[in-house]
Amino acid sequence: MPRLVPVGGATISGFYFPKGYRVGVNGAVVHYDKDIFGPEADNFNPDRWIKGDAVRMDKMMIHFGAGPRTCIGKNISLSEIYKLVPQIIRVFHIGLADPSKEWKTHNYWFNKQTEVNIFIKDRMYGSN
Ligand code: HEM
Repeated sequence: MPRLVPVGGATISGFYFPKGYRVGVNGAVVHYDKDIFGPEADNFNPDRWIKGDAVRMDKMMIHFGAGPRTCIGKNISLSEIYKLVPQIIRVFHIGLADPSKEWKTHNYWFNKQTEVNIFIKDRMYGSN
């Protein structure tokens, strides 16, 4: 999330940046911060939202940005995610075709996976 340093410059985390410099933060760095999300911040563990300090963690989530340039599609995206993802999981059983095979991740504007082969089964009828 890039931001331009304003007139007068800015000191961020002890480093001085002159006016006009572009600075930015990678959301993933914040989201993997063990001080906020616990010692196993890089594990998939939805329980942390029940057992941990959910209010504090929620304040630190910047997947839609922060401040005056926050994503304007945030609310429509969240309502789609809250409705669509549970519905897909309710209807289909999805898993890795070969759990022993490692997939690859690439960093672009967003993180992207390749070589992820999955199976999808209709939960009701069991067809592939
Ligand atoms: C899961 C879906 C989405 C994610 C994770 C996402 C994430 C982001 C992020 C991180 C930013 C930068 C915020 C910042 O600099 O503080 C942003 C900006 C923006 N997003 Fe999204 N976005 C999503 C969906 C959408 C959708 C559906 C729309 C349009 C309907 C949209 C429109 C925008 C626009 C216009 C900006 C620029 C806002 C500005 O600079 O004032 N986004 N988004």
